[in-house]
Amino acid sequence: MDFWQAVQARQSVRAFDQERDVPSEMVTKLLEAAIRAPSAGNCQPWQFFVVRNEDTKRDLARAALDQWFLSEAPVVIVVCADPERSARRYGDRGRHLYSLQDTAAATENLLLAVAASSLGACWVGAFDEEAAARALDLDPRLRPVAIVPIGYPAKHPRGQTERLPLGSVVKLIA
Ligand SMILES: Cc1cc2nc3c(=O)[nH]c(=O)nc-3n(C[C@H](O)[C@H](O)[C@H](O)COP(=O)(O)O)c2cc1C
Repeated sequence: MDFWQAVQARQSVRAFDQERDVPSEMVTKLLEAAIRAPSAGNCQPWQFFVVRNEDTKRDLARAALDQWFLSEAPVVIVVCADPERSARRYGDRGRHLYSLQDTAAATENLLLAVAASSLGACWVGAFDEEAAARALDLDPRLRPVAIVPIGYPAKHPRGQTERLPLGSVVKLIA
């Protein structure tokens, strides 16, 4: 699958094939794609937690306001930001903006790699940060940014979600 196909194939998947695992070599490749994301000053203020433990997955689903589908994925990756890493170089802008932009870029790379591997995933952002941090016993310096359940899709894809027309979100300044 080339880049353009992966972009078109990516869609949020919220039901996973319970019979198929995601091998750890595949997870490594996904993470290698994630860390190719750009980051301000190449600070790379991210940390990834690969969760396969069933209790921890359930704790994360509960932290994510009872989004239980995420505990049904064979693997869940939690993308965390390390704001002070960016702040050391860029102060408040690094702490409050770059560290989150960088981890978001890494998350999107991860999702595109998932799509290119014929896997499915969903960016889960609605969660109680403190509960998610507790589930992972996170170092207080880390901030969980995205919870990404990954597995083989259970159902046939439902088709692409709608987008606003390009003309309504693009302004040409010539
Ligand atoms: C920052 C962010 C937070 C999101 N949080 C959730 C979430 O908590 N639960 C969920 O099911 N989907 C979540 N999504 C997925 C969006 O609902 C989805 O990307 C959007 O509806 C477009 O659909 P598509 O991904 O299939 O193109 C989130 C996406 C983003 C980027």
